[in-house]
Amino acid sequence: MMKLLLLGDVVGRPGRHALSQILPSFRRNHGIDFCIANAENAAGGRGITRGVCKELRAAGVDVITLGDHAWDQDEAQDLVTTEADVLRPGNGQRSLPGRGWNVYRGPGGTAIAVVNVIGRVFMPPLYGCPFEYMDEVLHELSEADVRVIVVDIHAEATSEKIAMGYHLNGRVSAVFGTHTHVQTADEKVLSNGTAYITDLGMCGPMDSVLGREVDAVLRKFLSGLPTRMPVAKEDVRVQGAIVELNERTGRAETIRRVQERDLTGSW
Ligand SMILES: [Fe+2]
Ligand SMILES: [Fe+2]
Repeated sequence: MMKLLLLGDVVGRPGRHALSQILPSFRRNHGIDFCIANAENAAGGRGITRGVCKELRAAGVDVITLGDHAWDQDEAQDLVTTEADVLRPGNGQRSLPGRGWNVYRGPGGTAIAVVNVIGRVFMPPLYGCPFEYMDEVLHELSEADVRVIVVDIHAEATSEKIAMGYHLNGRVSAVFGTHTHVQTADEKVLSNGTAYITDLGMCGPMDSVLGREVDAVLRKFLSGLPTRMPVAKEDVRVQGAIVELNERTGRAETIRRVQERDLTGSW
């Protein structure tokens, strides 16, 4: 049995600090074999940098996925080209730097494919069909002997994410949603052995609007004017899910939501 830890969007310094405090002991206590985190908001709420990558690796993240904020920091284009453990959404322009999927080695050398796709409903109109893209990726993977396949669908609409779960049911080990920053209570193992959750939530400040300071977001909604929206600071939590699966078949056995509070508060 292999145990995967999947973590929702890491938001800014509070999210990174919480991971550094919580993840090492959490991995040990729960016997986590492999950890995937969406880090599209990890650098000051927008995108990712080399320094942030280093911090997340040191905390115990094995693979980083991204989303619509992938390119917010200038260095990201270079970073996704050189760092094999950082994925950007695969269903964009073919000329984009980096990769949308890759195969990694878990404990005992088990091959683990991770795929990052982005939805098209209520999202920037920059992406190709995520369903077709997944079919192409799975076709390529069918030629390699990879049983464990995990998919991050970074999307706004619950319907699109749930549809992706069913589209991939029995073809991948797990499908998890990211992007909304709000953890959903619909985790389940689908009929053919695919673990599914619509959104993992976030690793960041809960006393906020999706990780941003409440007053700033309210000002924006109430005035209708653009506002700077700093990352909030209070009630920082790490949210995600643990998936147990059979590494020989790739079938998921269980999925369980997790939430840990950062009580150190010293970041
Ligand atoms: Fe996000
Ligand atoms: Fe996003």
